[in-house]
Amino acid sequence: MTLHGVGLGPGDADLVTVRGRRVLEEADVVYSPGRLSRSVATEHVPDDRIGDLEFPMTRDEDELRRAWREAAAEIAPRARDGAVAFVTLGDPNVYSTFGHLRRTLTAFHPDVDVEVVPGVSAVTAFTTALGVEVAAGANLTLHEAARGTAPTGPDRMVLFKVTDVPATHEGLVDAGYDVVYGRRLYMEQGETVVTDDPQELTDRDYYTLAYAEKRGLDAEPATATFGDVEATNGDESNGKVSTDGGSEIGRTERAVGEACGDELPGVDGDD
Ligand SMILES: C[S@@+](CC[C@H](N)C(=O)[O-])C[C@H]1O[C@@H](n2cnc3c(N)ncnc32)[C@H](O)[C@@H]1O
Repeated sequence: MTLHGVGLGPGDADLVTVRGRRVLEEADVVYSPGRLSRSVATEHVPDDRIGDLEFPMTRDEDELRRAWREAAAEIAPRARDGAVAFVTLGDPNVYSTFGHLRRTLTAFHPDVDVEVVPGVSAVTAFTTALGVEVAAGANLTLHEAARGTAPTGPDRMVLFKVTDVPATHEGLVDAGYDVVYGRRLYMEQGETVVTDDPQELTDRDYYTLAYAEKRGLDAEPATATFGDVEATNGDESNGKVSTDGGSEIGRTERAVGEACGDELPGVDGDD
């Protein structure tokens, strides 16, 4: 009687939570909205337990509603009879297709309960990958920035769906931000890129985010004075490292572990 929405994390199979993995192992069938999430799921469950769902390559809302009703009609009887999971990359409640499924089930199959296993979201994973600390007292805003848009205003922003990096970069820099980009962070498929140089990211890749910080922000936590001690000791390896580009954003580290594109399944991403 329960559908489990399982967040898989950003893409590396070992960033699936222990609880998420258990739910996947116990599921009779695991549905995925796309090939990337499917490839992570198949690291934990055999192929023959992955369920098929068809999603049209469209932004037409009527067609999408139809597709979600069909998906819900496929999932609901399986969830009544057994253990069923639906996976998404990152967290199921952050800019995710899972919201469409939950609303559709609530409307047309209200007897199916829905439980969510949270996943490691790119909203938090970006900090470690880009070497950014969101210190106590700092505000952070999440925005979309598709097709070259450059939202401005807040001191610090995480931008998702950065599909035209050069155009977004120009808008942000003009508005007084330093920006760092992360592409395919903690993702086994494709190349992971972390850079503040927009010229390295001229091609479109849906799995690209940005962290933008207003230039000249005065953020000095109590322990920041230890940086002076480091400088005296001539040891610069344990704190901020210098950046490879013009960005002034303080990064604790830049290296990410080793490592397409479809918001609506089949269109932009499978999350
Ligand atoms: C529709 S949102 C889904 C977010 C996802 N549910 C989560 O919690 O991370 C997709 C956007 O998240 C960002 N994103 C998700 N995973 C990413 C990754 N591994 N590396 C870089 N950006 C990622 C990209 O900006 C992408 O366009």
